[in-house]
Formats: sequence, structure tokens, C-alpha cells
Amino acid sequence: MCGIFGVVGHRPAGPILLEGLKKLEYRGYDSCGIASVSEGKLHVRKGIGKIDEVEQRHGLSGVPGTVALSHSRWATHGGVTDQNAHPHTDCAGRIAIVHNGIIENFQELKRELHQKGHRIASQTDTELIAHLLEEFPGSLETKMAQAAARIRGSFALLAVSTEEPHKMVALRCESPLVIGIGSDAIYAASDVMPFLEHTDQAIFLEDHEMAVITPGAVSFENVRTRSSVNKKPRTLQWTAEQAGKEGHPHFMIKEILEQPAAIQNAMRQDPDKLEKFVQLIRNSRDVKFVACGTSRHAALVGRYAINRLAGKTAEVYIASEFSYFADQSTPDTLIIAVSQSGETADVLVGLRKAKAKGAKVASIVNVVGSSIDRESDASLSLNCGPEIAVASTKAFTAQLVVLYVVAHALAGKSAEGTAALKQVAAHAADLMPQWNETTRALAASWTEHEHVYFLGRGVNFPVALEGALKLKEISYIHAEGMPAGELKHGTLALIETHTPVVLLNPHDYTFVDTLSNGSETKARGARLIGVSDRSNEAYDAYIPLPQVAELFYPLVSVLPLQLLAYHAAVLRGHDVDRPRNLAKSVTVR
Ligand code: M6R
Repeated sequence: MCGIFGVVGHRPAGPILLEGLKKLEYRGYDSCGIASVSEGKLHVRKGIGKIDEVEQRHGLSGVPGTVALSHSRWATHGGVTDQNAHPHTDCAGRIAIVHNGIIENFQELKRELHQKGHRIASQTDTELIAHLLEEFPGSLETKMAQAAARIRGSFALLAVSTEEPHKMVALRCESPLVIGIGSDAIYAASDVMPFLEHTDQAIFLEDHEMAVITPGAVSFENVRTRSSVNKKPRTLQWTAEQAGKEGHPHFMIKEILEQPAAIQNAMRQDPDKLEKFVQLIRNSRDVKFVACGTSRHAALVGRYAINRLAGKTAEVYIASEFSYFADQSTPDTLIIAVSQSGETADVLVGLRKAKAKGAKVASIVNVVGSSIDRESDASLSLNCGPEIAVASTKAFTAQLVVLYVVAHALAGKSAEGTAALKQVAAHAADLMPQWNETTRALAASWTEHEHVYFLGRGVNFPVALEGALKLKEISYIHAEGMPAGELKHGTLALIETHTPVVLLNPHDYTFVDTLSNGSETKARGARLIGVSDRSNEAYDAYIPLPQVAELFYPLVSVLPLQLLAYHAAVLRGHDVDRPRNLAKSVTVR
């Protein structure tokens, strides 16, 4: 969703914010803006478009002053217009704010503020907060605490005021916010990415916590109790280099190619944390995976793995649907939350509801210190470094690895699992160049197609879902992933001459049935693309897989499908890392 970033320091804030904002752009890129306080005035520059475009038009980096805040928007309330771009200001032009989240009672607030004579310039829920702050007397933090009591919803807010030109206030309520402590500046941001090149010292805010930042100092308080909170920085493991493109044209291709190493890194789990995680599974009668998008596809593979290896059954819920079942949780329930960002709102809402009923939570996240990580009874990390491209790739494979590690530990077969995973990593490294070439050529023959189907059975079915999701989200080609056996119950009607059908068909327990479903599509004119460790005369095109143990095919078969989606998107001329309408971290419901 939206990204917010502010700085209080001694150097000009504009260039720092511009660079940081680019690192947050993956959270939203409809519009962006910066506001600074200097010489008793607010300086606001903003507009629609990507950051570089807005910088060219409005000179964001040229704002004067050393105290400033910025925003990269993913529209929720109000269209994509210059007026709706953040920062927003109060009537007097003394207060500027940026916001990530959603104000649920915005209609009520809007009516009230309107009646009180506030001039509301945009259609956003955010602007109302600037006017609400204007209503209250006192310091900026007092205003903020009083405003917070009136706002319902999820929000991370930064505010500055001309009346206190050396101060910034940052408040969190259900939307992520982290403070970076640098040697010559203090930062506040939606995640650590924008300040990673300045400091590795971070303090994560909890709900209802507010940071009051002045040059060289930051204090914390709970806005509900107005009591001070003692918080200590933690040292981040990620580096600024990991967050760069390293010569690749897009983050997505860099992240795809990193996967052989990501597999190795994800295998390295702290033994105590792993044991704690596994014990929670052993001790729970009711195990439920809760996740969204790509992370849910990983959970589907995880369900197979723990079932086949350890005989443990589990359900997998789409997080946004889980909240309707969460009330049925009991102390015997274990929620396994799978999330790259660790901030996905639907997952957080579900796990909080389940916790309220006594459930335990175990999570698998990439962002250590994220809300899901912090709110879990046990947590394992993906260890795959920052994932920037909106389309998730290396986080998916790392999630699979962690789930395989967990399933093997649960079955008392850790050594076996480690050996198999090492082999998979080696195969992935060997085949990556060949997959890159094959899929580039295949994608070139697809640029005209508007519909593609991905079929698989058993443990390969989630990869069909993932292959389709990747293709959809960046190439905008309509794609469906489905269990191969389900096709003849309706979707087969859509297969026409030359419709591409990608068949996830390794020589495992699903091979014979899957091939027969593929042949049914071919008999209706489909162009069959076999993804398998053995070629077959039924295939019109073939993507080779290495031979691995049955359970591990998803880990290798997903790699060429990611490349296929990538090349299709590049060939169709799309902005691969920033697909339209999407954002990396979905912090609203
Ligand atoms: O951060 P999370 O893993 O919780 O995010 C879940 C989904 O939003 C995410 O996987 C999404 O589906 C990706 N853009 C897919 O590539």
C-alpha cells in the first residue's frame, strides 16, 4: 500500500527523501509528494505519476529545509489526481501530514469538519486528519493524541507543523511504522528500505505508539495512556546493497536469478526456533495456514508436505476469508501465518481474531520485526534478503524451503530434507540459464495470446496457481491455474485452437492422470507446454526439469514459470517491477 518516509536531521531533507521514496515506490506508485518546514513555511510539492516523473515536473528534491516528510500513494479514497496526492495540509497551511492506511469513519469526520468550516480540497480520507489536528490546541503530539482518539481505522501517520519547525510526530495504529536512528538524522518510514543506506538501527512502533522526533532525539509514548514508552533499537540484518538492482534491468529478474542462493539461505534455520515452531504443530489438533496470494500458494505446498511426511492434516485459508471462520478457533488451534512482508492486513486481522479465542500463532515471514513476526508465538525467517519487485519470486521459493524444513523436522527426517534441498539448489543453479533462454523464446510466441491455462495435480497444483498469478500480475494476460482433473467440469469449454496450456507434469504420482488431462486439451486444439523431467510426444513445447524427489518438484518447476511471466511482461512492454493497480505490501483490507 502507500509508503511514508520522513526525516529530521541537519542536512537538506529533499535529496534524502527522494532517494528513500524510490525504495518505497513498490508500495504504491499512483502519485507522490514531499512537504518540508523551512523559514516558518510549509513547502509542498506533489503530483501524479511515478517518482522520477514527479521529480522532473515539481523538483521534489529541491524542497528547502532539514525536516520533511514524503509519500508514495496507492489510491484508496479518491482517484489518482494531483489534488489527492499526499502530503495534505490543514486550512491554515501550517500542518502537513502523510498517511498509510484507511480511515473508516471518514464520512462522519468529513461532515463534522465541513460544518465547522474547514475547507476540504481533496477526496481523500487523509486530508481530514490534517483538519482534525487543526482543531486541537497544544503541541503537535498533543494534537495527534487527541486526533487519534477520534479516528477509527488503520493508519500510520507522519506530521509536521510550522509552529514547531524542528519536530516530526509519527503515529502507528495497525499500519506499519519504523524509526531509523542514524548518526546525523532520525527517520520514520513504512519499512526499513528507505533508510537502510543511512543506518542499521531500527525501532519498530507498536499500535497506538507515537514517536516524537527532534534533531538528534526521539521519545515514545502511548497515545491512549499518554505515558512514555521505553524502546530500544535493534540491529537490522539487511544491507543497502541487497536492496539494489546490481546491474539487472529489473528487480524481478535479479530476484529470480538469486533463487539458488535463496534456497540455501532459507534452509539455515535457528534450531531452537525451528524446534519451537515444530512443537506448536505437534501440540495442536487444529492447524490452519492463513495467507494471501503467492504466500497462500506456498502454504498449499506446505500442507502437502506436512501431510505426506508427518501425517499431520492442515487446512489452508485465504486470509481475507479466514476472518469469517476465525471465531471458531480454540486453544487447540495453531495458525501458521505465511507472509513475505509480515504486514498483510488480512493475515493480521485473521490471526488477531484467532488469538483472541486462545489460538497460538506460528509465522513464516521475510521481514524480521514486522507485525506478524512480532505477534507470533514462534516465527521462522525466509532469510532471502529484501524482495522489492511486486511480483513475489524468491520469497515463494524461500517459503517452500522453510515449509519443507518444518515438515521434515516434524517427521524426524531433517537430514534427509537438508540433503534433498541442497540438491535442488544445485539443479536450480545449473538449469537457470537454459530456462531463461527457453522461456524467453516461448514468451515471444505468447505476446498475442490473451488467455493461458496452467494445470497440475497434487503437490504440483499450487504451482499451476502460482504460474498463472505471476503471468497475470505482470503481463496482464488472463491466466487460470487449476487442478488438472477439474478442467473437464467447465473450463475445458474455453480451450480453442492454439490456446496455450502449461502442464505441470513431472514423473511423479500425478504424471499419468495429468498427461491424460493435457491430451484432452490438445484434442481440442490447445498448444501443450510440458513442464517435466521427461519430454513427451504430446508436448508442443517442452520446459525441462531436473529429476528430484516427488515432493520437491514445486521448488524447481516454479522457476521457469516465473521467467516465462517475466519475459512475457518485458516483451509486452510493461513496467515489470510496478504492475498496474498493485502494491507490494497490502496493508489495507
Ligand atoms: O507479503 P505477503 O506475502 O503477505 O503478500 C501476500 C500477497 O499480497 C503477495 O504474495 C502477492 O500475491 C504477490 N504480489 C504475488 O506476486
